[in-house]
Amino acid sequence: MPKAILRIIRRTIGTTAKTARRAAEIEPFEVMDVLSRAHALEAAGRHVVHMEIGEPDFTAPPAVVEAGIRALREGLTAYTAALGLPRLREAIAQHYATRFSRSVDPGRIAVTAGASGGLLTAAALYVDAGDEVLVPDPGYPGYRHFVRAFEGRPRTLAVSAAQSFQPTLDMVRAAWGPRTKGLLLGSPSNPTGTVADPAELARIAQFVAHRGGVLIADEIYQGLVYGRTPATALDLPGEVVLVNSFSKYFCMTGWRLGWVVLPPDRVRDFEKLAQHFFICAPSAAQHAALAAFTPATLEVLEGRRTEFERRRDFLVPALQRARLAVPALPAGAFYVYADCSALGGDAGAFALELLEQEGVAATPGLDFGAHGTAHCLRFAYTRHLADLEEGAARIARFCATR
Ligand SMILES: Cc1ncc(COP(=O)(O)O)c(C=O)c1O
Repeated sequence: MPKAILRIIRRTIGTTAKTARRAAEIEPFEVMDVLSRAHALEAAGRHVVHMEIGEPDFTAPPAVVEAGIRALREGLTAYTAALGLPRLREAIAQHYATRFSRSVDPGRIAVTAGASGGLLTAAALYVDAGDEVLVPDPGYPGYRHFVRAFEGRPRTLAVSAAQSFQPTLDMVRAAWGPRTKGLLLGSPSNPTGTVADPAELARIAQFVAHRGGVLIADEIYQGLVYGRTPATALDLPGEVVLVNSFSKYFCMTGWRLGWVVLPPDRVRDFEKLAQHFFICAPSAAQHAALAAFTPATLEVLEGRRTEFERRRDFLVPALQRARLAVPALPAGAFYVYADCSALGGDAGAFALELLEQEGVAATPGLDFGAHGTAHCLRFAYTRHLADLEEGAARIARFCATR
């Protein structure tokens, strides 16, 4: 049919297709408003200190970059197996042996397109329409959305500073109902940087196993802990799925690479889903990641971890001096979750005014849920210490006027 006639038909009848309810229901990221305003200010010549960004300011370690370039030059860019390069799955298994003295069968490891690909496929694997999955509030917003994407119902656990913003057994037990399929949590947590207590997590895992549920542990910030050794939920009893990523500790956000450790008899189903959803994770990134676990690269990454710790140790007291309360000291990730109740309390307005007046961008707590989030903000220390010092001085000046 000629295009002109098609245009007339379209104009007369209008568009008829409706999008799915989930598209209308999904909440936007509040921080995007902050980000677009920050960009507008920068375009107008203002200097902005970015403390809203949840990704390392470091790029991938040099050996990883070189391996990536080599892979591109050698044309290693074809699809890989859906579960990933066997050599990378072995390297990841070896990482558990070296770092945690734990033996994992590489056959249980699926390489994914970031933790996001892992979480999405894990949600597809376990969630049927109407199933409930418990998620922490505040927590990473993706948890809710991945469950909802498969017509599941995220049921929030209102976590507070008193429990280091991590679910407790009592909370899980109280929230568990006939349609509950499992629990999805992150440790260290985004946005609070708090770490789950291993003993409490073990009790929760026992309970979930007893109820025949699944525990999905998002360990994306695993290497980034301060003053303690990194932990893994690998040994917990029952149906446990570990989600991890090269994005944060390995500083490879845009390479889109992560992994999942599955119960042995779930690997095939996960593989089928991954084949159709993604075909495979990016192949050049997989070849590059083979260089991520060498002692030399890990030394680079440990140096960066120490730098993050230095930044945290600067930022927490600096915010406190400005009268932003830090209800739970972050022991991991690269975030400080701070409470502005003493300074007006509306964190959304606080973030926009802080940006407008002082050129400091932070993430309003509402992005992370509904429980006590309206008066909280997340500050990321993913910027050089000198930038953070400048940001902290501006924050102090701003808070002094409130
Ligand atoms: C807690 C948490 N989980 C998962 C993700 C997704 O990470 P990626 O897909 O880059 O691995 C993020 C990203 O910020 C996160 O903070």
